[in-house]
Amino acid sequence: MPSPRILILGATGGLGRALQRHLGGKNNLTCWGRAEMDFEKPDEIPAKLAAQEYDVVLNAAGMTSPDVCEVQPERALLANVVAPQVIAECSERKGARMIQFSTDYVFSGEPHDLWREEDETKPVNVYGRTKLAGEAAVLKASPRALVARVSWLFGPDKPSHPDNIILRAMQTEELTAVADKVSAPTSNADICGWVERLVLEHPGTNGVLHLCNSGIASWHTWAEAALGIAEWLGVPVKTTRVQPVPLASLTQFKAQRPLMTLMSNAKLQGLLGEEIRNWHDALEEYLVQKYQPK
Ligand SMILES: NC(=O)c1ccc[n+]([C@@H]2O[C@H](COP(=O)([O-])OP(=O)(O)OC[C@H]3O[C@@H](n4cnc5c(N)ncnc54)[C@H](OP(=O)(O)O)[C@@H]3O)[C@@H](O)[C@H]2O)c1
Repeated sequence: MPSPRILILGATGGLGRALQRHLGGKNNLTCWGRAEMDFEKPDEIPAKLAAQEYDVVLNAAGMTSPDVCEVQPERALLANVVAPQVIAECSERKGARMIQFSTDYVFSGEPHDLWREEDETKPVNVYGRTKLAGEAAVLKASPRALVARVSWLFGPDKPSHPDNIILRAMQTEELTAVADKVSAPTSNADICGWVERLVLEHPGTNGVLHLCNSGIASWHTWAEAALGIAEWLGVPVKTTRVQPVPLASLTQFKAQRPLMTLMSNAKLQGLLGEEIRNWHDALEEYLVQKYQPK
């Protein structure tokens, strides 16, 4: 069987760049950023997609900052709902499959066991509400589509919490991180491997699927884990200790954040028939590659 023609949207973002690198070479790949397709101009999308041949579209584009979404809800609606819906409609007409990336922020954050795919969603901010509406719009327009919810991404293409805390720890011993907000940090590299298998081996999988590493972390335990690994690797951090603080003590955010959004990855494990590794192992691999490249 010929390999599917894959179109990546959001190819300039953290996950999009990781997908581009992972899938490039061995696959028939087209990568578009905002310059090739502006989600805030949804009227232009059908003609662009009609002119492009693809079997699978991976949509890693979107307005991803909760604070920006909160103050610019009309733009968030276009990027996270309207454009994905149009892409799903166009893809369905072509017989192509869409994989729409979504977020653990569709959940309320209230105390709960691991959130499963079928659990009730109740986002607390504009970002979560628009991503949830985007999920529904995509699945309604294209029943063959897959919504892949991810959480707390890290990797080489965009600095995230572990990169930032290590940089700060090289300057100061006075570090704080939120201890009462939990989820699963997830490696972009691991997501790329799962997505490749979902594309090649599970073309009929549709609906909602959680893609996250195993284990649980708070921003605080994630920070201390990153600093411990960094120190072990010889990075000149001044401390590996971080002062835990409650989310409520942070005043700079425009958007409310949910507290407990840890998702179950049991469905993914069952589908792929492989154990999903712990976020700590994935973080260690990432930091080794970053600070001790071969
Ligand atoms: N990062 C996380 O921790 C996290 C957590 C949960 C879920 N997710 C989800 O995972 C997916 C990928 O996230 P990410 O961290 O890779 O995001 P990212 O680094 O912020 O990248 C977002 C991408 O979307 C593009 N984009 C934004 N607005 C656009 C518009 N109006 N038109 C066209 N393109 C636009 C950006 O283009 P420019 O480069 O031009 O801005 C960029 O390519 C998203 O669906 C996000 O909601 C991420």
